[in-house]
Amino acid sequence: MIRNTYGNLLKPAKIGTMELKNRICMAPMDYKYFSGNEEESSMSYQQVKVFEARAKGGCGLIFTCATQAEREIMPYPREMQFPLIDRDERIKEFAEAADAVHVYGAKIGCELTMGSGRYADNVDMEKYPPLAPSECQTQYHPEVRARAMTVPEIKHMIRTYAEAAGRLKRAGFDALLVMGGGGYLINQFLSPAWNQRTDIYGGSREKRMTFLIETLQEVKKVVGDDYPIIVSLNMDDLLPEGVSACKGIVVEDAIATAQKLEELDLADAFHLRIGNYYNQEYIVPSAYVTNELYMENFKKFKKSVTRPVIFENKLSDPKEMQRLLEEGILDFVSTGRKWIADPDWVNKTLYDKPVRPCLRCNYCLHTLWLGKSTSCAVNPEHGHEFEGEIPPAPKKKKVLVIGAGPGGITAALTASQRGHSVTLLEKENKIGGKLEIVAAPSYKKQYLEYLDYLKYQMEESDVEVCLGVEASPETMDFYHPDTVIIAAGADPIVPPLEGIDLAVTADQVLSGKRKVRGTVVIVGGGLVGCETAHVLTEQGCKVHIVEMRDQVLKDTSYVTRHSQLDVLKSTGAALHVNTKLLKVTQRGITAEHDGKEQFIEADAVVLAMGYRNRSNLYEELQDLVEEVYQIGDFRQTRKISDAVNEGYRIGRGI
Ligand SMILES: Cc1cc2nc3c(=O)[nH]c(=O)nc-3n(C[C@H](O)[C@H](O)[C@H](O)COP(=O)(O)OP(=O)(O)OC[C@H]3O[C@@H](n4cnc5c(N)ncnc54)[C@H](O)[C@@H]3O)c2cc1C
Ligand SMILES: Cc1cc2nc3c(=O)[nH]c(=O)nc-3n(C[C@H](O)[C@H](O)[C@H](O)COP(=O)(O)O)c2cc1C
Ligand code: SF4
Repeated sequence: MIRNTYGNLLKPAKIGTMELKNRICMAPMDYKYFSGNEEESSMSYQQVKVFEARAKGGCGLIFTCATQAEREIMPYPREMQFPLIDRDERIKEFAEAADAVHVYGAKIGCELTMGSGRYADNVDMEKYPPLAPSECQTQYHPEVRARAMTVPEIKHMIRTYAEAAGRLKRAGFDALLVMGGGGYLINQFLSPAWNQRTDIYGGSREKRMTFLIETLQEVKKVVGDDYPIIVSLNMDDLLPEGVSACKGIVVEDAIATAQKLEELDLADAFHLRIGNYYNQEYIVPSAYVTNELYMENFKKFKKSVTRPVIFENKLSDPKEMQRLLEEGILDFVSTGRKWIADPDWVNKTLYDKPVRPCLRCNYCLHTLWLGKSTSCAVNPEHGHEFEGEIPPAPKKKKVLVIGAGPGGITAALTASQRGHSVTLLEKENKIGGKLEIVAAPSYKKQYLEYLDYLKYQMEESDVEVCLGVEASPETMDFYHPDTVIIAAGADPIVPPLEGIDLAVTADQVLSGKRKVRGTVVIVGGGLVGCETAHVLTEQGCKVHIVEMRDQVLKDTSYVTRHSQLDVLKSTGAALHVNTKLLKVTQRGITAEHDGKEQFIEADAVVLAMGYRNRSNLYEELQDLVEEVYQIGDFRQTRKISDAVNEGYRIGRGI
């Protein structure tokens, strides 16, 4: 039974002439599921199946990722390659995507980019000189300067862009998302930071709009006046100090551009951003940041325009979306990672079913920076939609899974879905593994939502869960499994140093099993040490972090490091890098720094020195059970994403 308690949010609405079944869009996201090399990069079957799943899951309007219209004079980005719609042969591949989503009543719009301009990467200056509105430094290769585009080059870009828009319309695409933000070429023309031209394309705010206006006019000539055009704009470039002579675009510039486009009837809606790739977390906010700055700019923008505005950026709760719609703060919502984490979230919301939450861990983005295709920490099926439903197992087996953390639970659920008879053993009296302590910091509560989701899935499944049972070789005599999957995690490292028994582990503190107060030394400045520092300072402790290496948070991802460091700074913790623990005493620790011993006085010492699996269970079971696998932290200490994806793979493979 459908119970739409979300009013207009999940009811039909219009952008220009386009009828949408609801007000929910899927934000443009690049997964790198393309076929072909840089020159041939196109829409793949894998990508089409991702769109299809989101259309089936209830999305009103799907945006593709940035797609390039031209690659002759603007061939960048090369490493972060985008699909191309630069010639008619590409139409059939894009048509596949349009056909796939239309049968579910969804609409599709392409985010068409003019190219990178000063974002040029993998620079081959001789062959492909980077071009920008004015001569300036390129972003990723500060030693390389981009050349100012000539007027014929500008006209070429406008013409090829309009031709590409025409191809998309012929492919059956319902709307165009003109990429005017995100720091790409149109954004650079609009931004006083990068456009110092003195011809009709620069000089004043009005003249900086000329490139966008001429582009939209040319597009309209090709696609017609009633083809829906959504323009994405940056409300604030948020350039870091020192990279340019001015701040770049601020919200007043974005409003003036939008008002001009409304006056000329060149845009049917606006899709809004803040930030730039200097700090990607304004565009893709992680758990460590809020979206207040976005909201502040958005409200100013919305008040100043008459056409619909599309809100994106970290909105997750449909009730909040509905409230913002009712209050007139937004007209449409565009969510990104929520669709990666759960392609069915709109339908589930309509049927009042639990939705798998996005953790905002930005692992999806991190995988892109590693040069891989996107995968998700909580949805192992993302990108595997083309493989179809989980197939029944040809031979039904008795499967024993050891450890009910995210890895073991995923393996158990997947194996059970295939028809295996699955028993999950957990030595504690509850399931979830480390998820509860992962969620200890106040900004990581979405990990508890994820745990609730896993509990719900377990209740709905046929998996038999045995709590308070510690698996050992002897346990096999009782269960007689055909297959064992060991997902027993890893234990904190406690080095054999003098006085170490006086210390407690971060796990004990975060789980609330041990209390510390006063001045605390945390040994280990990785993610666990720094997050423990946050939890303890919120409890009123004064914290020192001792780290053996030359930096704290050294192994964290490039995409979240900025904001993790900001969170750490907010704790006021005293950092002692290049400092190695020697011994623990009743009054603090002795450590070595620069070859000298130093004493740090403290009321308590907390160990956050990493995790290691010390169990021999895998080796011990080899002769007792036919098939034995190890996954997650038990195999190698890593992340939730590794445990979940390995659990899925093994559950699907056995
Ligand atoms: C404080 C902290 C913060 C973290 N933050 C993040 C983060 O932000 N993002 C991220 O991706 N990762 C994070 N991690 C890492 C993440 O928690 C682990 O990578 C993940 O939990 C591994 O999942 P798993 O299923 O392999 O093991 P676990 O979650 O460790 O689960 C193993 C389970 O096996 C049980 N078990 C052990 N031995 C037996 C036995 N013999 N019989 C039966 N049961 C047994 C244990 O009780 C436990 O329930 C963090 C870790 C910590 C400690
Ligand atoms: C993996 C990934 C790829 C992205 N690729 C693009 C892209 O190609 N074009 C774009 O405009 N935005 C891109 N974004 C940004 C998203 O459109 C969106 O702005 C961002 O994820 C914030 O919304 P959310 O909090 O709902 O995820 C990407 C985001 C992610 C996570
Ligand atoms: S990888 Fe993390 S941030 Fe990305 S969609 Fe999945 S849960 Fe969300």
